[in-house]
Amino acid sequence: MPDISDFFISKFRNLSMNIPAPSSYYQPRPYRNAAVRLRNCSLLDFEERKEILKQAGLNVFMFPAHKIPGCDLLSDSGTTTMTMEQWAQMLLGDEAYGSNEGYFELKDQIKDTFGENWISNDENIQNWFIFHQGRACEYALFTVLSRILKMQFETKKISFEPITDNLLTNLSVKLKQRISKNIEKILDTLEISKKNGPAFVIPCNTYFDTTGANVEHRNIIPLNIPCKEHEDDDVSYNFRGNINLEDLKILLEWGKERIPLIYLTITNNAGGGQPVSMKNIKETSKIAKTYKIPLFFDACRFAENAWFIKQYENGYESKKIEDIVHEMFENVDGFHISFKKDGLVNIGGAILIKDESIFMEKYPKFLEKLTDHQILTEGHPTYGGLAGRDLKGLIQGLKIVIRQEYLDHRINQTKRFGWKLIELLKGKKNEAPVLQPIGGHAIYLKMDDFFIGTDTKDTDFKSIALTALLLIGGHRLVELGLYSFGKLKNGKEIPPDPRVNYVRAAIPRLAYEDQDLFSVAEAIKVLYDNREKIPAIKVTYGQDLMLRHFKSRFEFKS
Ligand SMILES: Cc1ncc(COP(=O)(O)O)c(C=O)c1O
Repeated sequence: MPDISDFFISKFRNLSMNIPAPSSYYQPRPYRNAAVRLRNCSLLDFEERKEILKQAGLNVFMFPAHKIPGCDLLSDSGTTTMTMEQWAQMLLGDEAYGSNEGYFELKDQIKDTFGENWISNDENIQNWFIFHQGRACEYALFTVLSRILKMQFETKKISFEPITDNLLTNLSVKLKQRISKNIEKILDTLEISKKNGPAFVIPCNTYFDTTGANVEHRNIIPLNIPCKEHEDDDVSYNFRGNINLEDLKILLEWGKERIPLIYLTITNNAGGGQPVSMKNIKETSKIAKTYKIPLFFDACRFAENAWFIKQYENGYESKKIEDIVHEMFENVDGFHISFKKDGLVNIGGAILIKDESIFMEKYPKFLEKLTDHQILTEGHPTYGGLAGRDLKGLIQGLKIVIRQEYLDHRINQTKRFGWKLIELLKGKKNEAPVLQPIGGHAIYLKMDDFFIGTDTKDTDFKSIALTALLLIGGHRLVELGLYSFGKLKNGKEIPPDPRVNYVRAAIPRLAYEDQDLFSVAEAIKVLYDNREKIPAIKVTYGQDLMLRHFKSRFEFKS
């Protein structure tokens, strides 16, 4: 008996017979291909992909990448095509155990990229730490911070009672509800009692999933407070990544002693790849300083964020990207970064903390403790989790990523892909289920709008079915919505708050041409035109697990 995937396979097969129409480009790409890899699978292998995907429990993370003939848009992280300059530098990697050549060159590059004061002038102070990737930095940062908080309060003999509803009375209804939901989630995840529940909150414009999970894992509340324009889905607002300054002030008035840190993710990945304006960065920094709370960046896409500032913020039109980056980083005490994004490399991460900062005043033992943690888990601070050759590739990547022509091409390509999708999916009233304005590194399909008018319940998880069918069609996207960020509690599904319900197409750097991305848009149109046929999903394993989207297995419901 044919199943629903066979219907979509016949549609994808018809699509694959289309001859690409000429397009009207007048700007060449700012690079030429120096090496390419021919694929050893075909777009027409629909039946094979259907079978493999079934064996993988329809979980797109488990699908073998070498069997994807189209675009693999699962992530823009670690998927960069490195330049020949980077490969050439990697051959010069110095594989010494400690203090290799790359370490000293990276030190200079960090000053060039982020500003002089990111490396301590005191040779005896180690204030920058190399890790193998972003989440290793997050794990280290929050592990050490929570230990220090505990120590400080034990020394001062202060016991901080866990946050309960009685303590939330001075907050707005929205914040009260959001904090309560976070507390419930933490108590469940950590399997602890209310008596031992979280006593601290770290507010952020919007956390990436692993960053939020690492905060939670240390019994601290990761509180998302995106700006109003983002919560209202204002498609004309260019800086939807901003933090909500009003909410931030309310929180600080409520309990600044319970807020060890404030966070800005630049750009805001979980919230649509949206940038944070310089004005918002500066205002956040001013508020943080007033209350003497340290401010950090999750800086994965710092160069893309700077491009948006130059493009859309008054007074920055004629500034150089490198100067905008310096100005952004003047406002924070520290940052962590996964270099797998704007480091233009396939592996790497770092934590940097200014030695003269509110952070160091508040947590003077932090650097010492972090050094211990790094040696225990990654390696000596002079190489961290990376080989000497990785450092060389990264140094070169940091030189390239701030080049105007690179960033113009990178972000305009994302925009062209987004506009193509809007053109193909728009309805009678010109509305399309695409998050706008288009962000820097990815397109976000808005699932609530995609399935509007069909008989769809949250618990059908049709976005999972959509990504599975699209993979049979030859392209890989990922669900970042009700399944990834929601939770099963007492047999009931709790959606994320604020509600997030996307499928994301993240674009690897320097890897694809417009023709490739437009073919994804055409395949998505097939699914959109037949969306009432996209089936509901049965979760066969892992619905109750933490970070469940990485591990679960699914079947199409018939
Ligand atoms: C904003 C943000 N923070 C942190 C991370 C985690 O970095 P990594 O994948 O290197 O662990 C990611 C990864 O995509 C991210 O987008």
